[in-house]
Amino acid sequence: MQEVEIHNSIFESYITENEIDSSIGKVAEAINVEYQDQHVVFIAVLNGSFMFCADLLKKITISCTVSFVKMQSYEGQQTTGKVNELIGLTEDLKGVDVVIVEDIVDTGNTLVKLHELLNHKSVNSIKTATLLYKPEAYKKNLPIDFVGIEIPNEFVLGYGLDYDGLGRNLSKIYKLKKQ
Ligand code: IMP
Ligand code: MG
Repeated sequence: MQEVEIHNSIFESYITENEIDSSIGKVAEAINVEYQDQHVVFIAVLNGSFMFCADLLKKITISCTVSFVKMQSYEGQQTTGKVNELIGLTEDLKGVDVVIVEDIVDTGNTLVKLHELLNHKSVNSIKTATLLYKPEAYKKNLPIDFVGIEIPNEFVLGYGLDYDGLGRNLSKIYKLKKQ
């Protein structure tokens, strides 16, 4: 599909399945090298990161476990500036090395909130892996350690990313078409 229409907005094809797959390969390789002979707890941020997390973990060769946290900051095509934790982390994470798995880092509000939650749990270290990163929108100082693809400040969907819950099932990534 070259274009999709959701709620009267037209989205055009932007990042292909091959590009997604090869960028995930690079992220996985960097993590496998960085944490060689170590154990990592991946914390994936629902809902958006479910597809990226599944494909990333298939390429991870180090010892690992995975857990999920549900956060929400977007309504429609806008960030609300507030981050709500909808499903929390219940397990003991004391002393573990965490890699946060995000679909996209935009303003960084979600990341800051998650760091606060994880620091309360006395983790040993926190790094972030994200499929997409919008450097122009990012307003925080936390490092983004493993980035799949940097994109301009545009609204995208597909491959887990949604517009009002829709579009997550698309296998490639689309961007909002300028009218
Ligand atoms: P942040 O807290 O502003 O960094 O936003 C992070 C979350 O907002 C991501 O995990 C996504 O769920 C959502 N988000 C940010 N940009 C987009 C976008 O372009 N399309 C769909 N969701 C987005
Ligand atoms: Mg998300």
